[in-house]
Amino acid sequence: MRIVMIGTGYVGLVSGACFSDFGHTVTCVDKDEGKVKALLDGKIPIFEPGLDELVAKNVANGRLSFTLDIAEVLPDADAVFIAVGTPSRRGDGHADLSYVYGAAREMAPMLRDGAVVVTKSTVPVGTGDEVQRIIAEACPDLDFSVASNPEFLREGAAIDDFKHPDRVVVGVNDDHAEQVLQEIYRPLTRNDSPLLIMSRRGAELTKYAANAFLATKISFINEIANLCEKVGADVRDVAKGIGLDSRIGNRFLQPGPGYGGSCFPKDTLALLKTGQDYEAPLRIVESVVASNDTRKRAMGRKVVNALGGGDQHGKTVAVLGLTFKANTDDMRDSPAIAVIQTLQDAGIAVRAYDPEGMDQAKKVLDNVDYCTGPYETLEGADAAVIVTEWDAFRALDLTRAKSLLKQPLLVDLRNLYSRSDVERQGFTYIGVGR
Ligand code: UDX
Repeated sequence: MRIVMIGTGYVGLVSGACFSDFGHTVTCVDKDEGKVKALLDGKIPIFEPGLDELVAKNVANGRLSFTLDIAEVLPDADAVFIAVGTPSRRGDGHADLSYVYGAAREMAPMLRDGAVVVTKSTVPVGTGDEVQRIIAEACPDLDFSVASNPEFLREGAAIDDFKHPDRVVVGVNDDHAEQVLQEIYRPLTRNDSPLLIMSRRGAELTKYAANAFLATKISFINEIANLCEKVGADVRDVAKGIGLDSRIGNRFLQPGPGYGGSCFPKDTLALLKTGQDYEAPLRIVESVVASNDTRKRAMGRKVVNALGGGDQHGKTVAVLGLTFKANTDDMRDSPAIAVIQTLQDAGIAVRAYDPEGMDQAKKVLDNVDYCTGPYETLEGADAAVIVTEWDAFRALDLTRAKSLLKQPLLVDLRNLYSRSDVERQGFTYIGVGR
């Protein structure tokens, strides 16, 4: 199959590289000249374990290429995937579809008969209908299909998620699109990953429902963690106790500083808007969004309170981890932002370190003393707080840490440590929900 991938962001780049690894011929197109130049030079613009090797291998064998010029590749494409951004529209929380519709408008005159246009970007219900309308209006005689194929990969585990998905969701309104997508995903179905064929609208909604449900699980366990702290229970026991019930499942029940990233915050908001538009309000998701927003600042206050509460001018806190989760350099909606701002509002100076996220963090967080490693960050601080669950923070030398800190106080927002181990070293330990 000849595939064109429009957009070389997270989803576009990973999907393009994996499709080429399946044996298809893939060209990734982007309007960002710097990005395409970097990719042609073998530089990967995002941090994702294993992606540079996968890209290099498939560029070398001639199955993967990059270009700025859509006209050069579109006329031959059997399938054109749209993997451009759908950010939250400023002001109303709706998904901004201008890039998706822009791509549809641009490609329309270059498509060949039989081409299948597939939205891989996360798009609200009905977007496929609009893409179809835009192309049909521009080219009334063209024989084409529009399908939806949402992507469920997680940052940091993207390649494995793409190649071993729990399922592939394909939304089609005609047989030709179904056949083309069956062919594209054949290598996965051979490995027993089920291809779920449904309507285009069903596929579009499935993506939002999945993300909203996962966000709900996280917010649920975060609120149970709050209750555990009040009643003297350990949330890890409770999470295990409920998670072993196969109807609930044990994943996405890790309490923490609140969910962040490029998907959950944006997609839950967009789903709420769709619910309002169709007069089917999603009260549970509304509560999840509110609960998560409150939580991020509450985690900052947890640290302030550990230092005595109120105004803490003159104090310094060492923040370990800035990205929204480990194994990514992504700072989008990271809880670290709200945690640090809450500390700064209380007059606290912040020193911080992240293994991969420093460049991105510097763009969004001012007045932070950025350090080069975990131990340097601890120097002279009144407390250490772990915000992201990087492996580099899982086995800190606590004796060394204690000698660097002004006072031995560890706030562990990811429950990486055992209380007794840390307390044995003379620390005051504050975890989440325990
Ligand atoms: C998510 C979805 O998992 C993925 O299917 C979709 O395609 C994109 O959005 P991602 O944002 O990469 O993926 O990260 P994920 O691992 O899902 O974590 C999202 C947030 O939830 C992070 O802030 C993470 O720290 C938090 N989280 C996750 C928890 O706090 N507890 C958990 O148990 C799991």
